[in-house]
Amino acid sequence: MLTNLTVMERMQWIVLAILAAGIFSACGGGGGQPEVVVFDQSNAPQKLSDWHFMVNDGKTLTLNASLVPYDLNSALFSDYAFKLRAVYVPPGRQIAYKADGTFDFPVGSAIVKTFYYPKASGNDAAYVAVARRSQNEQGSSIDLSANVLIETRVLVLQPSGSWSGLPYVWDADQREATLKVGGKDVKLELTSANGTSEKFMYAVPNAQACQQCHSTQTAGGAGILPIGPKARNLNKTYAYGPEPAQNQLVHWADSQILAGFPGVAGAPVNADWRDTTQSLDARAKAYLDVNCAHCHSPLGAAFQSGLMLDFATVATVSPSPVRWGVCKTPLAYGGPGAPYRYDIDAGKPEVSLLLYRLSHYMTGDVMPPISRKVNHTEGIDLINAWIRETALPACE
Ligand code: HEC
Ligand code: HEC
Repeated sequence: MLTNLTVMERMQWIVLAILAAGIFSACGGGGGQPEVVVFDQSNAPQKLSDWHFMVNDGKTLTLNASLVPYDLNSALFSDYAFKLRAVYVPPGRQIAYKADGTFDFPVGSAIVKTFYYPKASGNDAAYVAVARRSQNEQGSSIDLSANVLIETRVLVLQPSGSWSGLPYVWDADQREATLKVGGKDVKLELTSANGTSEKFMYAVPNAQACQQCHSTQTAGGAGILPIGPKARNLNKTYAYGPEPAQNQLVHWADSQILAGFPGVAGAPVNADWRDTTQSLDARAKAYLDVNCAHCHSPLGAAFQSGLMLDFATVATVSPSPVRWGVCKTPLAYGGPGAPYRYDIDAGKPEVSLLLYRLSHYMTGDVMPPISRKVNHTEGIDLINAWIRETALPACE
């Protein structure tokens, strides 16, 4: 163990030295693809293509072979955007498994998340017409004849040991994405299968806003961490195609990018909130954990509200259900007034503020407070049913 650590430390210094010299290029890629290049934040390129995370030939967006695509049991809702997530680990380095919390990544790792929508036909040329659908299986590439690319977010672990977050926005011609540290508003028209449509301003968050959600370890401070790569979120089967489908954690361990994995039997698992064979408690816990808990937890940006929506707290009665909102009066939120009094009024979703904030998208009411402009009907239905069936005494 000690020897390992020394080797790792030595490697870190080598990486540091190379980074100090400018950019650090890693081998891998394969299949004649260019190698991934990992940049320090201060050198972050304007063009996404400079990282070589993916290849865009105008027809298909394909991941570089040295990136591993991954999905989560339950994912963040982002105005019905589809997502393609992938992780890059420098050759020879490994992620350290943890049963709880975000895995420990080696310096030079990057996580790349592309937001896109299925194309649709719209009514207003000033808006990009996109389909209002929910993503099922996440693929490993994006067919550009059927989809519109919006943005790609990059998290990269710098030699200093801190992660930096970079938002890239795709150009109208869909060939290149450009770094927009100030974020960007994109006019979208979201069209349902039944023909109804909703126009809205999709908000690519600015680089500062990444911190509001990703500072999960510092009670609203500066340090940011990835949110998804935790054992319970990744413990699911992924259709790798052409390779056979496999449990993601097993795949990472087999590919030598994950160290210390105890095996599926020893790993926690989060519910898929869409899976109606699971209990409402398990589904609501999973939904709130991935959509809210990065802020609503003891070390998140909303810790001062006292409302904890993390996996370990929701639906528990000890020390008290007030911790996850039952019969809890909000601290800093005026809200709509009577008859709304509590975050969760058990059995009464129609007067529960938690559901109210989930069902509104006006500034001041909307939760999460950033990056959501559209209501998530399916998520609202779930939380509605869950509050209605929560068997706790009525609030005084
Ligand atoms: C509204 C909260 C929120 C904001 C703002 C936000 N993120 Fe995230 N992000 C999440 C959540 C939650 C996940 C994990 C769930 C998922 O991937 O569906 C995530 C996942 C990611 C991932 C995949 C790795 C991971 O952490 O799970 C990347 C990369 C990422 N975000 C980058 C960024 C960047 C860069 C910014 C700023 C430009 C940003 N995010 C802003 C909530 C947010
Ligand atoms: C980017 C961080 C962030 C995310 C993500 C987030 N919240 Fe919040 N939330 C806050 C902050 C900050 C407050 C305190 C200020 C306020 O009430 O507006 C708050 C307050 C609340 C309150 C009032 C709590 C009280 O008792 O004072 C409710 C209810 C709430 N959030 C629900 C949610 C739900 C449900 C989600 C997920 C769907 C969510 N929030 C996601 C930041 C966040």
